[in-house]
Amino acid sequence: MEKVVFPVAGLGTRMLPASKAVPKEILPIYDRPAIHYTVEEAVKSGFSKMIFVTSRGKEAILNYFDRDVELEEVLMARGKREMAEFLKQLSSLAEFISVRQGIALGLGHAVLQARAVVGEEPFAVVLPDDIVLCEPPLLKQMREVYLRTGKSVVALYRVAKEEIPSFGIADAEVKSDGNVVIHDLVEKPPVEEAPSDLAVIGRYILEPEIFSILEKTPPGKGGEIQLTDALRVLAREGRLVGLVFEGTRLDVGNPRGLLRASLEIARRRGVKI
Ligand code: G1P
Repeated sequence: MEKVVFPVAGLGTRMLPASKAVPKEILPIYDRPAIHYTVEEAVKSGFSKMIFVTSRGKEAILNYFDRDVELEEVLMARGKREMAEFLKQLSSLAEFISVRQGIALGLGHAVLQARAVVGEEPFAVVLPDDIVLCEPPLLKQMREVYLRTGKSVVALYRVAKEEIPSFGIADAEVKSDGNVVIHDLVEKPPVEEAPSDLAVIGRYILEPEIFSILEKTPPGKGGEIQLTDALRVLAREGRLVGLVFEGTRLDVGNPRGLLRASLEIARRRGVKI
């Protein structure tokens, strides 16, 4: 398993006005673009092909991972070797591939656009709004669950009651062997209809069969083709498991979360603010 799909075609309306002219994935968390952190997690988890599902105006994301030889030379000439080396290694972190989502029909539709590039192998999906700080990296832990169970895996996180309507929520059962079986999922339910407080967050390991399910998935919540609705099909057939992880989740898709993430990451890097 080597491929990760990053859906990055969204408008980023929660980040306006900042995201009007710059993709939200490029807004900085301390000193690096937001997208850097999830790509780094994927690399540390053993993935080597990053597939960005992009749209108009998102070129900056791919540019960040390209070599810029001219800039590196200028930095070297000015004695800034360390930064020159840092920029140089970005392009060798992984292979970067871009596919387009020409029309915004939902997260499920975005994932479906990667079908031809993914092919018939299990793959990961990462939503870069969710930065997860834990050791080993979350995707690595999920890969291990996949190898152990042979089933698609979602990451689960307990959320406060008032947060339930912002997430896909799982009807899940923790087995005596520690495995978490998911019986059903509901996309952004009202609190009173939620089957639990276990939210699906932006990490998935998926069997390629998800593509043929997505193809047949009608628009759901908000009129969008939801990944959650396709995962439900797997859940109801007993082919979806969960990983309830321990760690810090940072939602960097809104201004408060981005600020909090900057402070948290700077603190962990020993920067005095
Ligand atoms: C998406 C998914 C939702 C999931 C969430 C995690 O929603 O549809 O099931 O819980 O990501 O961040 P979004 O936040 O993109 O609206």
